[in-house]
Amino acid sequence: MAQTLNYSRPFAVVTGASSGIGRQLAQCAAEKGYDLLIAADEPEISAAAAELKATGVEVDFIQADLATTEGVDKLVAAAMGRPVDILLANAGRGLGHGFLDQAFADAKRVIDTNIVGTVYLVHKIGNEMRGRRTGRILLTGSIAGLMPGAFQAVYNGTKAFVDSFSFALRNELKDSGVSVTCLMPGATDTLFFERAGMLDTKVGTDEKMDPAEVAKIGFEAMLNGEGDVVAGMKNKLQAAAAHVTPSSVLAEQHRKMAAPGTAKN
Ligand SMILES: NC(=O)c1ccc[n+]([C@@H]2O[C@H](COP(=O)([O-])OP(=O)(O)OC[C@H]3O[C@@H](n4cnc5c(N)ncnc54)[C@H](OP(=O)(O)O)[C@@H]3O)[C@@H](O)[C@H]2O)c1
Repeated sequence: MAQTLNYSRPFAVVTGASSGIGRQLAQCAAEKGYDLLIAADEPEISAAAAELKATGVEVDFIQADLATTEGVDKLVAAAMGRPVDILLANAGRGLGHGFLDQAFADAKRVIDTNIVGTVYLVHKIGNEMRGRRTGRILLTGSIAGLMPGAFQAVYNGTKAFVDSFSFALRNELKDSGVSVTCLMPGATDTLFFERAGMLDTKVGTDEKMDPAEVAKIGFEAMLNGEGDVVAGMKNKLQAAAAHVTPSSVLAEQHRKMAAPGTAKN
């Protein structure tokens, strides 16, 4: 249940805050003194809220399926009209294996979560921010959006959407007082690869960045009003290379790290 929040502090809404990058983004916001409304689909979100309360800010949580418009409506209702200073639209999921071998419902859920729910949430809260001529939006895109993702084709496509959408919206809002930032992580040590069924892949088993470090980089970029940030030097190099490499080559490289059975052991 939503509770009455203390308006003396700024207010952050963070999605996908039960684990991984989103949990750490919520930590960054709490440590900067933002009251929080955090959301995720599973009951674990209540444990994250309890931990975040130790920072001394007000923390409210909502369990909502953000792949649905009803779930997004539930999240917006839980804010109870309180002006949102920062929106961290981070909830997302991956899905490994060849596209035709995936259950279509699973592939659709990736699209509904990463694109439809994200865009609907940004439309709702973005309008409210523009009306007040202030606010910051951080979208968690990915360097995956820069490369055709053989054996993670739908996921990479959704992140190409998020990366592109973020830059376009940023431009549209450039004189509005609202900034839009795209956090583009590379492989990060979260539940993502396990949930995507990719623990038998090279990318699923290779060394990854710490989600706390990734979140800090994204949070700082958002506060500074930057357009995008690729987390980590190795990922920066990968992103730069992707801009000048033919798509067919990128797809073949992606196959080598994401096809089932590419894990070392
Ligand atoms: N890990 C990486 O290598 C990597 C790289 C680049 C970008 N990213 C992006 O980073 C973001 C966070 O992922 P992560 O790596 O931190 O993975 P994670 O640990 O699996 O966290 C995903 C978060 O999103 C939430 N979520 C997923 N589907 C949802 C839904 N339908 N409704 C509400 N909440 C939902 C999850 O909550 P529930 O458990 O309750 O579903 C969880 O809190 C995603 O957008 C992902 O695409 C990750």
